[in-house]
Amino acid sequence: MATVKQNLHRSPELTHSDSARLDTELLLAHSIGRDRTWLYTWPEYELRGEEQRRFDALFERRKSGEPVAHLVGEREFWSLPLKVDASTLIPRPDTELLVETALELCPGEKRRALDLGTGSGAIALALASERPGWRILAAEKSADAVALAEENRRALGFDNVEILQSDWFAQIAPQQFDLVVSNPPYIDAADPHLAQGDVRFEPRSALVADREGLADIERIAHESLHFLEEGGWLLVEHGWQQAGAVRKIFAAAGFQDIESRNDYGNRERITLGRCQTSKNK
Ligand SMILES: C[S@@+](CC[C@H](N)C(=O)[O-])C[C@H]1O[C@@H](n2cnc3c(N)ncnc32)[C@H](O)[C@@H]1O
Repeated sequence: MATVKQNLHRSPELTHSDSARLDTELLLAHSIGRDRTWLYTWPEYELRGEEQRRFDALFERRKSGEPVAHLVGEREFWSLPLKVDASTLIPRPDTELLVETALELCPGEKRRALDLGTGSGAIALALASERPGWRILAAEKSADAVALAEENRRALGFDNVEILQSDWFAQIAPQQFDLVVSNPPYIDAADPHLAQGDVRFEPRSALVADREGLADIERIAHESLHFLEEGGWLLVEHGWQQAGAVRKIFAAAGFQDIESRNDYGNRERITLGRCQTSKNK
């Protein structure tokens, strides 16, 4: 049997990963049922048979490319531990920009927000963690992802979030929101990145959209005007080369105060627009 330190020395075997050491730590900590700090406190701890077998199996699966989040069943987003599985996207740190911007655009405790394509519930639950007074509806097409988001909602105990199965707005009763936020599918079907890394293990329905990745954003932009208050905001994430096209879509739909914002890597990754005249009024 090997010690913690000896197992950590195996990290260079994860040749395809650009976070080999971190991946190894996460898989090892998960196999022993401890956190990563514990590994550094007890480097000479010798794994028990069952722990070693668990680690070996997970490590082999990681070598063949499976995402760490799927192997350990969890990913942290906005400091919230979220259960993840193969039904939807693994929440990305990039999407925290969407949460930050939503909080900035909508100050105040009594707001109504809609998260479209909620997946694991990441955005809706992050907003709920910051604004207990908001009422948040989270819509998602995949029944399995709805179940996952509901499990995360319950585990975190947020009573101000409702999760609904819906094809975008189709099952949402007429009502007005102050904010519609979405990280929809926006990758073009021909994008070579779909054959690389974690995305190979994520469902295409969470990633790919028609019309060079813009079809879902276009639909959301047009339909959200029926669900926004006057002065309410639409906020979407998109690819770094799509900002100009998304601004045009927002303008054609009738949004005002349209603006794209950069992510931490200085690339335009989100676009926002204000609804001047709600189509419901
Ligand atoms: C890019 S993922 C984002 C998931 C999550 N919001 C996040 O940021 O981690 C897009 C999500 O939209 C969902 N989706 C795709 N088409 C949809 C539709 N027509 N109606 C509702 N949700 C849809 C997918 O199932 C997936 O969960």
